[in-house]
Amino acid sequence: MTILTASRGKFITLEGIDGAGKSTHLSWLENLLRRQGKRVIVTREPGGTPLGETLRQLLLDRGQVIHPETEALLMFAARREHLDKLILPALDRGDWVISDRFTDASFAYQSGGRGLPSRKLNVLEHWVLGKFQPDLTLYFDVTVELGKQRTSAIKAADRFEKEPEEFFRRVRDAYLERVRIFPGRMRLIDANKPLEEVQKSLHDVVISYCDA
Ligand code: TYD
Repeated sequence: MTILTASRGKFITLEGIDGAGKSTHLSWLENLLRRQGKRVIVTREPGGTPLGETLRQLLLDRGQVIHPETEALLMFAARREHLDKLILPALDRGDWVISDRFTDASFAYQSGGRGLPSRKLNVLEHWVLGKFQPDLTLYFDVTVELGKQRTSAIKAADRFEKEPEEFFRRVRDAYLERVRIFPGRMRLIDANKPLEEVQKSLHDVVISYCDA
């Protein structure tokens, strides 16, 4: 898992509760980075590989009843494959990788939301990632009410989206706690604001990151 820093691309992850608007912001960010001359690969979790996408279907299927620990293990199994088959090879080639969710989502959903002790996730994180971390994590913060409003307007709820508001309150709190713990890597973007304002914040964070 050793990576040569000289030619290595950057790994950017997007996080937020369901309905935070990540998909819209992701395409906008992709275009921004391409305009900056970066070669960009967009991916997502759970998913990003054939095995990961198959696990995603199971994990999001609202007909499945899954133990919280099984859920966490499957998230990390998909992640291990994702790192090996897509993320690390792309970064080694010098590509920039944007992932719609990564390990922070496991801490937010499986620990915050489902209540698994974070020490169990720390073990999985250490096992699967070693010291590897995203270079930059953009956390799009919205209120639970706004998130719910947006998801129910878009599509039928999946296995996570059908959870009650209380679940998403815990997920959001867990994300906010991680932003406090990792202020260097994680940046909070207030996604309650109108789209143009969110894009302006996103632009400023990303450009200052690229220039640093
Ligand atoms: P999401 O990223 O919101 O995709 P879509 O916009 O298509 O609904 O869906 C993925 C879901 O998986 C989301 O509800 C959060 C959940 N998830 C976890 O619970 N743990 C994880 O580690 C990851 C990566 C995702």
